Amino acid sequence: MGNIFVVMNPILNGVMKAAGMSSQLVEIEPGTTMHFWVPTKSIHPNNKLPNKSSKPAVVFVHGFVANGIINWLFQVLSLRASRLDFDVYVPDLLFFGDSITTRPERSTSFQAECLAKGMMKLGVEKFSLVGLSYGGMVGFKLAQLYPHMVESMVMSSTVIEMTESISNASLKNIGFTNWPDFLLPKTISGVKVLLSIGSHKLPWLPEFFYKNFHEVMFSNRKEKVELLEALVVSDKDATITPSNYSQRIYLLCGDDDKIFNMAVSDNMKEKLGENATIQYIKDAGHLVQLERPCTYNHYLKEFLSNL
Ligand SMILES: *[C@@H]1O[C@H](CO)[C@@H](O)[C@H](O)[C@H]1NC(C)=O
Ligand SMILES: *[C@@H]1O[C@H](CO)[C@@H](O)[C@H](O)[C@H]1NC(C)=O
Ligand SMILES: *[C@@H]1O[C@H](CO)[C@@H](O)[C@H](O)[C@H]1NC(C)=O
Ligand SMILES: *[C@@H]1O[C@H](CO)[C@@H](O)[C@H](O)[C@H]1NC(C)=O
Repeated sequence: MGNIFVVMNPILNGVMKAAGMSSQLVEIEPGTTMHFWVPTKSIHPNNKLPNKSSKPAVVFVHGFVANGIINWLFQVLSLRASRLDFDVYVPDLLFFGDSITTRPERSTSFQAECLAKGMMKLGVEKFSLVGLSYGGMVGFKLAQLYPHMVESMVMSSTVIEMTESISNASLKNIGFTNWPDFLLPKTISGVKVLLSIGSHKLPWLPEFFYKNFHEVMFSNRKEKVELLEALVVSDKDATITPSNYSQRIYLLCGDDDKIFNMAVSDNMKEKLGENATIQYIKDAGHLVQLERPCTYNHYLKEFLSNL
């Protein structure tokens, strides 16, 4: 049998197609291409220019492991199947999935700029952003750089900015001394540690799952190490003033996030001020949207439908 994540690809494509979603490569600039799942209806049959849509758009931004659709499949299918009428977009950030750049920048600002440009090229100038972990940090940056593009934010298992003190404390919580050792495991047992720290309680998974996951999910290793180096900023260089956000922000977190614990999330809510609300999901870890998809989707849809 081949790698399950490769074998599953055509099936995944079929499921997405049935859900009204298509795969699109968007050239941000020469040398920089971002992959998106977009609503099939938004694609013009002849010239591939986007059709303007009047529906509100939701963009799902993934965390540091795997790609957009593996992070958000349950949410995308649930939103598409519900009565809520949203245009759903799922990007792969640069160096994840099929997104790539020849440019040297590795900061969250660069990721945010490319994502914003990609959305503009897709004809979407305003959206709600749902971000997990690294994707949340890119999202907070995007909302800082392009405040008018972001209507509201749902942020999970993340922080506004990865300052050195947050980074040090989080690494200490999980018993690592640097992020690449944890997030870019070199062995199959390293993958088990990663997914087990990421969950409240990791279900039993067959050995080949970890082996196959290890084979395909950690490509562009060198560039990803550079992304992690660029992610951590010294406390005094932190540029985001949390109280600047005028959007409604919904923090949707697991109550057993071992990387960013409840104290970190409560502190973030405090800093974000009156427009932020927080909801904890019971018995869920960092990968809350995968571990408790039904509860997560319930709260997500409730928030989005009240906008
Ligand atoms: C997009 O718009 C064009 C021109 O208005 C229309 O002919 C086409 O059917 C639309 N595509 C979809 C998939 O709705
Ligand atoms: C974080 O940890 C590094 C390495 O141990 C140390 O050099 C640095 O001073 C720490 N920074 C903060 C803000 O605690
Ligand atoms: C945030 O607010 C401060 C103080 O009001 C202001 O100086 C700064 O330019 C704002 N930053 C952004 C990114 O809007
Ligand atoms: C909260 O949101 C409202 C409406 O968007 C905005 O006018 C206000 O400045 C925001 N409050 C804060 C503290 O950001």
